[in-house]
Amino acid sequence: MTSIAAVVLAAGAGTRMKSAKPKVMHEIGGRPMISHLLGTVGALDPSKVVVVTSPAMDSVQEEVAPAEIAIQKEALGTGHAVAAALEALKGFTGDVLILYGDTPLIEAETLEKMIEKRRASDKCAVVVLGFEPDDPLEYGRLVTDKDGNLTAIVEFADASAEERAVRLCNSGVMAINGEHLEAFITAVDNKNAKGEYYLTDIVEIAIRKGLTCAYVKGEEEELLGVNNRVQLAEAEAIAQRRWRLAAMTGGATLIDPETVWFSHDTKLGRDVVIEPGVFFGPKVTVGDNVRIKAYSHLEGTTIGEKAQIGPFARLRPGAEVADKVKIGNFVEIKKSTLETGAKVSHLSYIGDARVGAEANIGAGTITCNYDGYDKFRTDIGAGAFIGSNTALVAPVKIGDGAIIGAGSTISKNVEADALGIERAEEKQKSGWAKRFRDLKKKVKK
Ligand code: UD1
Ligand code: MG
Repeated sequence: MTSIAAVVLAAGAGTRMKSAKPKVMHEIGGRPMISHLLGTVGALDPSKVVVVTSPAMDSVQEEVAPAEIAIQKEALGTGHAVAAALEALKGFTGDVLILYGDTPLIEAETLEKMIEKRRASDKCAVVVLGFEPDDPLEYGRLVTDKDGNLTAIVEFADASAEERAVRLCNSGVMAINGEHLEAFITAVDNKNAKGEYYLTDIVEIAIRKGLTCAYVKGEEEELLGVNNRVQLAEAEAIAQRRWRLAAMTGGATLIDPETVWFSHDTKLGRDVVIEPGVFFGPKVTVGDNVRIKAYSHLEGTTIGEKAQIGPFARLRPGAEVADKVKIGNFVEIKKSTLETGAKVSHLSYIGDARVGAEANIGAGTITCNYDGYDKFRTDIGAGAFIGSNTALVAPVKIGDGAIIGAGSTISKNVEADALGIERAEEKQKSGWAKRFRDLKKKVKK
């Protein structure tokens, strides 16, 4: 078995993004584009992955570790970018896949097809991934002979009217026989309309050497190139569609799929029901038989089985929600553990806390976890009942089975099974309200 090396080109400036960060670091489903691509490439089990970046792209270099980095000092074209990776590929004679960092949605099966086609004949030196977009724009065009062999790729800027009429376009992705790569790349020059070193020239170079080239067709959707924020949003939409389908085929019900937004790593159990308008940020895992009601926002959260979340709930990083927990409307949970069967049904903020099993947190309860400088913990025991509109001033501990009177501000620990109450004495003045009204009515006349 010959091995595979992948070279990902990511040194382009990405000026059309109008961004301080490198283009390939822009995210789809909460994950940089370049990492989506590397994830897909990883499925082919490559023996080497080289990412070509420009010298200033520290964030890209950190993101792609442990992939090898090749620095292209100046962006002089795609052929020049591959030249920067030659050093890292020295002695490699397997198949080299060339990918573009800004084409993140390509699927592993498509790459496999290309490799298969490349290996079908020893003479076949280059396989190019072509596609037929609805609008061929300024993509390079694939020129073929009457037998359907690939004979050249013509860049739009250099193409004749006849060539521009060709609908079969270059996606940029290639599989190249590594034995010839160095010879091909060193033969590329920059005598063309843009004065760039075009990788696409290697097709004609290979043919001149008596070798052949071929193409495989991919889908427009997976080959979308992201050059600006409009295309970034298109790529996001495509990825979301894929994740919604995966969620449903995996056994989750999405009542209105189009309105549910996933992250690249959202994990759903079976018989999960997701109501409309739910947003999943990164790192959410949901157990079986959970219902997530409309307009909830979740990130960095683990939810056990049979829990009920929302509507309008906000689960922030570090929310650990056990089985059968109920979290109701307008409840925010941050960095807190809710043990089995705990209930926080309405209008509460629970941060830096533990809520014991079967504890019931009344409406409007707030854990006061922050004094403007430091964060403090609240610990609520199993079976405790916290009355409505309670402020728990952390650090504070409520024992198992304790009851807190509604409206209390609790800043001292409450022992197990005790009543904790902090409230001014209630007064009652009989007839006062009626006297007050009668007086007001007289004055108004
Ligand atoms: C390229 C292809 C074109 C194809 C199109 C598909 C060439 C000459 N043309 O054109 O046939 O239809 O992609 O999207 O290859 N890059 C570098 N260093 C450079 C230049 C580019 O790393 O010096 C990287 C970019 O970061 C990007 C990729 O290579 O990820 C493609 O570069 P780009 O300038 O977008 O090429 P296109 O003009 O779109
Ligand atoms: Mg491009």
